[in-house]
Amino acid sequence: MQNNSQNAEFNAREYFDNIYQRSVILEAKQLTQSFKHGKTERTILNAINLKIHKREFICVIGPSGCGKSTFSRVVAGLDPYTSGEILVDGQPILGPSPERGMVFQGYTLFPWKTVKDNVMFGPKMKGQSHASAEAHAREWINIIGLEKYENQYPHELSGGMKQRVAIARALVNEPKILLMDEPFGALDPHTRQKMQRHLMDLWQNIDITIIFVTHDMDEAILLADRIVALKANPGEIKEIIEVDLPRPRDAEVMLTPEFKKLRQRVDYLVHADEDELDPALAELPVIPRMTKVSSQK
Ligand SMILES: Nc1ncnc2c1ncn2[C@@H]1O[C@H](COP(=O)(O)OP(=O)(O)OP(=O)(O)O)[C@@H](O)[C@H]1O
Ligand SMILES: [Mg+2]
Repeated sequence: MQNNSQNAEFNAREYFDNIYQRSVILEAKQLTQSFKHGKTERTILNAINLKIHKREFICVIGPSGCGKSTFSRVVAGLDPYTSGEILVDGQPILGPSPERGMVFQGYTLFPWKTVKDNVMFGPKMKGQSHASAEAHAREWINIIGLEKYENQYPHELSGGMKQRVAIARALVNEPKILLMDEPFGALDPHTRQKMQRHLMDLWQNIDITIIFVTHDMDEAILLADRIVALKANPGEIKEIIEVDLPRPRDAEVMLTPEFKKLRQRVDYLVHADEDELDPALAELPVIPRMTKVSSQK
């Protein structure tokens, strides 16, 4: 009942106007990224212009190979870019920084460190004393609900737990932006749903901007304020969609006609035309029948 009354009060226009009044935290201006493939050069991101506002939740979607991870890596400062500009709070990105926390699909925890030591790593690198780093790490380990596991090693944790630790490890540095590239891609559907809920709770309670890359269109609609739909070959922004669904959201919102309508739109946008496909996928080889494979039943 409480949810219904909250929903009735939700004014999408007001919600988005409020977002656009906030300062721009990340701006891409004519951002272009090309890679050399042999003698030819392929433009992966082509003159991307985008403004992301403080505390926005942005999801980036698009067909495989359209440049989603390339964009994440540029924002993370892991890769140099070819031309254009990419600014955080008006300052160019020159390399990785704790102000941009990263959680990517491959678990990026140090396998030889315990949960607590993994989370303490950032604060210690910033020069905090052991006691202060430990106190900060404990605070975040409590927030993600893994206090009973602080002395365990990554291999002793489930996939969902590892991603929670990865989130804590990024957030302990108090980043302005949390960059997530398919962070829940390897999780089973149930764990994934719990992680989505957990992430929305975190986002709603801390002052952070999230840029979340996903293949999963339902996930994008569930989480995002705005969805940036990229097209491939070269990667360009096809459309930016305002997700005008009330917050807070839970999985039940997926059953509503409003969600289904957005889903249709997003489906349409991501369904790549042949010439938009990553060439590597467009040219998938025909697999010959192997003589080793027995035809006997
Ligand atoms: N360091 C690199 N050198 C050369 N080419 C690269 C490099 N990184 C990415 N590419 C190319 O850029 C294109 C886009 O790759 P990217 O990983 O950004 O796609 P994506 O949208 O994340 O795909 P997926 O959904 O499959 O994860 C691909 O064709 C890839 O081969
Ligand atoms: Mg990718």
